[in-house]
Amino acid sequence: MAHPDVKTVVITGVTRGLGRAMAEECARLGHTVFGCGRSRKAIEGLQKRLGGPHDFDEVDVASDGQVEAWAKRLLGSREAPDLLVNNAALINRNAPLWKVPAPEFSDVIDVNIKGVVNVIRHFVPAMIHRGSGVIVNFSSGWGRSTDAEVAPYCATKWAIEGLTQSLAQELPDGMAAVPLNPGIINTDMLQSCFGGSASGYPGPKEWAKRAVPFLLSLGPKHNGKPLTV
Ligand SMILES: NC(=O)c1ccc[n+]([C@@H]2O[C@H](COP(=O)([O-])OP(=O)(O)OC[C@H]3O[C@@H](n4cnc5c(N)ncnc54)[C@H](OP(=O)(O)O)[C@@H]3O)[C@@H](O)[C@H]2O)c1
Repeated sequence: MAHPDVKTVVITGVTRGLGRAMAEECARLGHTVFGCGRSRKAIEGLQKRLGGPHDFDEVDVASDGQVEAWAKRLLGSREAPDLLVNNAALINRNAPLWKVPAPEFSDVIDVNIKGVVNVIRHFVPAMIHRGSGVIVNFSSGWGRSTDAEVAPYCATKWAIEGLTQSLAQELPDGMAAVPLNPGIINTDMLQSCFGGSASGYPGPKEWAKRAVPFLLSLGPKHNGKPLTV
């Protein structure tokens, strides 16, 4: 049995941006991180730098089969996560909705909605079995408001708000699911949608110093509450 103060944290999308910053900050605070992303080089680099017991794997969350294999491997020999962070997401290139190509629209839906559900499908049963754990699904300011040229992304983040509220009603006592708006942070994604003005916002490292203790403090009393860092 792990020390009760050491938490097991699963984070999707750890190769860049907020996911990587959360993984590094969780590890720095002494917690155990299991993370995934698609870029093999970045995954290998993170594994090398942070070492065991942390575990990083090349997984595309849009593939139910890949997520299933990842969860089976981890849950076969380790604790169910105390904190499950669905962070991985894509944003469409800025464009009016009628100009977004069908494959690009599908990719945003597949990662931002189906990817989150794939991770829930394969990790949450073990958390329910143990009777504890917190699920944080990354939403956005654009999960609660809208802007031009990001309709596909807005659609997925509004979906995250809805499915997380429903999930919260299904979980047993002792658990929680929350949609989280992380704020506005200068990452690749922000540079895609904000262009040059992204550089006026704080970076992921600075954000993670505030965000990680906040995420680790969440518990059953937060179930179903839309939160903001
Ligand atoms: N930055 C902001 O201001 C902001 C504001 C509101 C909400 N958010 C939300 O915060 C989260 C993180 O955003 P970010 O700004 O850090 O984005 P980012 O810099 O673009 O990073 C996205 C991460 O997700 C991973 N990813 C993308 N598709 C994936 C897939 N199919 N399977 C596995 N991993 C995948 C990427 O890794 P690979 O490419 O290696 O797979 C990368 O590590 C997202 O949910 C985003 O919507 C961000």
